[in-house]
Amino acid sequence: MPCLVNSRLWGKLMANERNPLIRMIAMPADTNPAGDIFGGWLMAHMDLAGSTVAVSRARMRVVTVSVEAMSFLLPVTVGDEVSFYGDLVTAGRTSMKVHVEAWRRRREDDQEFKVTEATFTFVAIGPDRRPHPLPEA
Ligand SMILES: CC(C)(COP(=O)(O)OP(=O)(O)OC[C@H]1O[C@@H](n2cnc3c(N)ncnc32)[C@H](O)[C@@H]1OP(=O)(O)O)[C@@H](O)C(=O)NCCC(=O)NCCS
Repeated sequence: MPCLVNSRLWGKLMANERNPLIRMIAMPADTNPAGDIFGGWLMAHMDLAGSTVAVSRARMRVVTVSVEAMSFLLPVTVGDEVSFYGDLVTAGRTSMKVHVEAWRRRREDDQEFKVTEATFTFVAIGPDRRPHPLPEA
């Protein structure tokens, strides 16, 4: 039987069986001047989604200290459903790295495509607003 999709495309088509941390519909107000969805909108939601994972691990307030390897793979257009997924990658003394992905789905069909990914570092913050050690996992 012929292979209908190459492995790179398959990675983009692979169904996401995880529950998203956030799911949004991209709206006209979220566009850049060219009419596609503004990268900053995606980054803001990825930051929020990643912080959900970090707060869940830290059990306290966190701040974003860095974003690495942000890649915009495909555009998002108005009306797309965008789902944000995240996983804790590593935890240090006070910091946590969370890998976050955004996936797009046209609401008329079932295929999801990965549109953006990045690794966010969050730092747990105590009442003194300084880095605070993470509790035992
Ligand atoms: C986050 C912040 C409190 C860290 O202060 P700091 O004096 O650098 O603290 P430390 O040197 O003790 O570092 C704390 C942790 O952050 C990590 N860290 C600091 N800067 C980092 C960077 N640029 N990238 C990745 N990790 C970093 C350190 O490695 C350390 O991790 P560990 O405890 O797991 O070993 C300070 O940089 C800050 O307030 N930044 C502004 C955050 C903010 O406003 N974010 C946007 C809105 S949420």
